[in-house]
Amino acid sequence: MKLIKTVAELRAEIALWKKAGKSIGLVPTMGALHEGHASLIKAAHAENDCVVVSVFVNPTQFGPNEDLDAYPRTLEADCHLAEVMGANVVFAPSPKEMYPSTAMTWVEVTGDVTKVLCGRSRPIHFRGVTTVVSKLFNLAQPDRAYFGQKDAQQVEVLQRMVKDLFFNLELKIMPIVREADGLAKSSRNTYLQPEERAAALVLSRSLKKAQEAFAAGERNGQNLVDLVSRSIASEPMSVIDYVEIYALPELQPVTTPLKGRNLLAVAVKFGTTRLIDNVILEA
Ligand code: PAF
Repeated sequence: MKLIKTVAELRAEIALWKKAGKSIGLVPTMGALHEGHASLIKAAHAENDCVVVSVFVNPTQFGPNEDLDAYPRTLEADCHLAEVMGANVVFAPSPKEMYPSTAMTWVEVTGDVTKVLCGRSRPIHFRGVTTVVSKLFNLAQPDRAYFGQKDAQQVEVLQRMVKDLFFNLELKIMPIVREADGLAKSSRNTYLQPEERAAALVLSRSLKKAQEAFAAGERNGQNLVDLVSRSIASEPMSVIDYVEIYALPELQPVTTPLKGRNLLAVAVKFGTTRLIDNVILEA
């Protein structure tokens, strides 16, 4: 496996693969790789001739008071995991390499899909995501790109971007990977103190209650939101940012009764750590 740090070197490698007619899978990440990322790399390896894993803590998707500086950086361990899971290249550029000058072009999806849920408290976040992912798509020219369902809103935003900008690739969305006790895997879990981690289990427990109520026939979205909100609020360490339900695709207001695919999503703080989780409720 090759560790590549420059755009020029990545371009040269991709050109060789393209010339040889190889298919390419791209797994964009911000590093601090865990089993969730491993599942993406494994899928990319199974479905493509060559796999690029990008490891880049993208400054443009962090707001001024967010955790850009504190975000875990574990390149050596990331390279090891990427190699074990079948990556051919880890692309780990510097911020200067990805954003060489202060003048720059943004790629921005507008509309409710970027305004609700995390878009409300993180107004510049998705513009940063779509800009850096567009750069990565242009550099790696993948046939398939792999993302996790845990970032459900990101998935909807990227689907829209790929459609609108005619990116010639397939987005592959892989299921949420959880710890044995239900906590969704996240690079930010490393911030949690032991008592916060124990408290955070309320997220998967509460979403499971909603799934059970839905399976038992509950089709009122607000009732499901109330059920999850009450359950999370019963944990004293939790501070709810949102508990909301939207219709998929593209996070439209839900119908009553619920129809089609619906996303029930939560963002909750434990101490200084903000965690997200979600379930899809399909009628
Ligand atoms: O999901 C992430 O880790 C990031 O938002 C992504 C897609 C790698 C863009 O920086």
